[in-house]
Amino acid sequence: MRDQQAFYITTPIYYVNDVPHIGHAYTTIAADVLARYWRLRGQDVFFLTGLDEHGQKVQQAAAKAGIEPQAHCDKLAPQFQQLWTRLDISNNAFIRTTDPLHKKIVQRYLQELYDKGLIYKDSYTGWYCTFDERFWTEKDVADGLCPDCKRPVERLSEHNYFFKMGQYQDRLIDHIKTHQNFVRPESRRNEVLGFLQTQKLGDLSISRPKSRLSWGIELPFDKQYVTYVWFDALVNYLSALEYKLPSPSVDRYWPASVHLVGKDILTTHAVYWSTMLMGLELPLPETVFAHGWWTVDGEKMSKSRGNVVDPFAMADKYGVYAFRYFLLREVPFGQDGDFSEAALVARINSDLANGLGNLLSRTLTLVERSAGGTIPEIPPLLDTETEEKLTAAGLDAFRLADSDIQEMAFSRALETIWQLVRAADQYLEIHAPWTLAKDPSNRMLLERVLYRAADSLRLLAIAIYPFMPSTAEAISQQLGINLDFNTPIPFRDRQWNRLRPGTKIQKANALFPRIQPQTGTLSVTGHAATLSLSQGAKSVSDTPSASQPTAGATAPTAAAAQVPTSAVPAQITIEEFQKIQLKTAKVLSAERVPKSEKLLKLLVSLGTEQRQIVAGIGKRYEPESLIGKTIVIVANLKPAKLMGIESQGMVLAAGDSEVRGLATFLEDVEPGTKVK
Ligand code: MSP
Repeated sequence: MRDQQAFYITTPIYYVNDVPHIGHAYTTIAADVLARYWRLRGQDVFFLTGLDEHGQKVQQAAAKAGIEPQAHCDKLAPQFQQLWTRLDISNNAFIRTTDPLHKKIVQRYLQELYDKGLIYKDSYTGWYCTFDERFWTEKDVADGLCPDCKRPVERLSEHNYFFKMGQYQDRLIDHIKTHQNFVRPESRRNEVLGFLQTQKLGDLSISRPKSRLSWGIELPFDKQYVTYVWFDALVNYLSALEYKLPSPSVDRYWPASVHLVGKDILTTHAVYWSTMLMGLELPLPETVFAHGWWTVDGEKMSKSRGNVVDPFAMADKYGVYAFRYFLLREVPFGQDGDFSEAALVARINSDLANGLGNLLSRTLTLVERSAGGTIPEIPPLLDTETEEKLTAAGLDAFRLADSDIQEMAFSRALETIWQLVRAADQYLEIHAPWTLAKDPSNRMLLERVLYRAADSLRLLAIAIYPFMPSTAEAISQQLGINLDFNTPIPFRDRQWNRLRPGTKIQKANALFPRIQPQTGTLSVTGHAATLSLSQGAKSVSDTPSASQPTAGATAPTAAAAQVPTSAVPAQITIEEFQKIQLKTAKVLSAERVPKSEKLLKLLVSLGTEQRQIVAGIGKRYEPESLIGKTIVIVANLKPAKLMGIESQGMVLAAGDSEVRGLATFLEDVEPGTKVK
């Protein structure tokens, strides 16, 4: 029985019929999060992934490539291994079912079941799908097509060996009923139970005549046959424990804690594998968790559609950790989801660049400017109320997010963790340390605010580590604390106020560069509004202007206005005024334009889109003080470049040569609202 301290997690072993895609990356990243999470909590984790190299699919792929199946596998295997390195996957072992030791173990189990009388020979006639390598019953193929892949099926009659799976039906139903966590999520558990309770479970054909398929493990009791690829593949979860570790460790790690699988291979795991284990008198895994599938831009992902997402390309283009974050944040684990680069870019910009990344850089800038680059002492609590929210968010980032991760609710866990990002941002807003710094009598509060903001980042680094290990390390290095994630993080370090005062920070590059949305990849609405001519008119048609976000031209700011005063007519008509589209915008980030006293580069949100605006308000405002503020912009100004930086709008400000104030609102107004 598995050691109390041990945690054994597996991914499916992937067919080597083609190069890896986002589906493979998804399961493996999720498994990596669990593995890293449990290691950080001091568990002895064994994380296994690998390749399923036998069977018809691989044989066909090799034939198509004109090479021997083994050569084909040897050629493709490194691509998977390289992908796992690229995606920072921390698997402890990588199994290939063509490993001689694996083959031996499969044969040993086959022999064991045979000797027990659980495998028998019989003839079978049925509808066979070559692609899925399986027989279907008459009623399954009413239209002559495989119900799974919709390819034509053929009538086939042959002698085969069968495993007495059917005899375990009641036991399996009972096991699922009495083990709440055996099949997850709940909806999938009900599906499996429903199937088992309404249909008779037949016996399982576990052989293929060599005349039809030669690429497989030979049956030890009949050389005319190879074993069915699933019998071979499922055994990997046990065989790896016998030969992939320095010493056989079945007792230490079995039963597995979690088999992570896609929804399409739940039956093979929950039913075939479970009954095989019953036959072998071995305990069943604790959990089989089936996740959903990704579509791509709303369509099924397939080679023929040419829309297969290459995880290497995504990692190269957007960064490994942003890609990992997106896959687990975007869709609740267990449900289907849609992948699009536009959604990925939107998440990177909002959650990573403007969220976590910005919090780090603004906090460290403040520590540099107001505390000489050193984490200050933490003075006593001065104001309980405004700290309560921050304190609670910091504790939730472990208490709540922990149970979410243990439940495999990764998206919810990240959402909870990001509450801490938001709470820390708001905390800075409320206390405005850039203002506190101006008055020495505020020193204590200033130091407390800086300490707490920096300590939030320390907690965030620990909380995000399983998802984004390198990002966590970067945060910890920039904070100057160099946390060691290779050893368990003690419970006390998940508490507040464990940052050592006096630590020298090491501010470095931004964690996540903001990504310019590409033309057509983000929804762009509400630019060139056609206005009706009646007084107080509303826009009657919003024409999306796809070129807007990347078009280059100058957008002057109020303070750096382009139009000479003399050229402005004393009076304008209402029609003329209505040509100007004013909108509310929320400031997501702000930074100084290098070598300019006056210019700030703002990233603002108009709700459905984001704009970069260069505004001449830098003498009046510190960039940090603007974040989160709702301002007014001229939204249909032709884009332009200021000091080489594109500006896509203009900020409304009071004052003439000197900025006195920014137009803003008394109420909380949604970004993107029309101003008239
Ligand atoms: N070799 C078997 C597994 C044997 S495990 C003992 C197999 N391999 S596979 O390469 O075809 O699929 C591996 C995994 O990729 C499955 O879990 C499957 O659900 C997953 N995915 C394939 N396409 C996917 C998406 N479009 N989205 C998410 N996961 C997807 O089956």
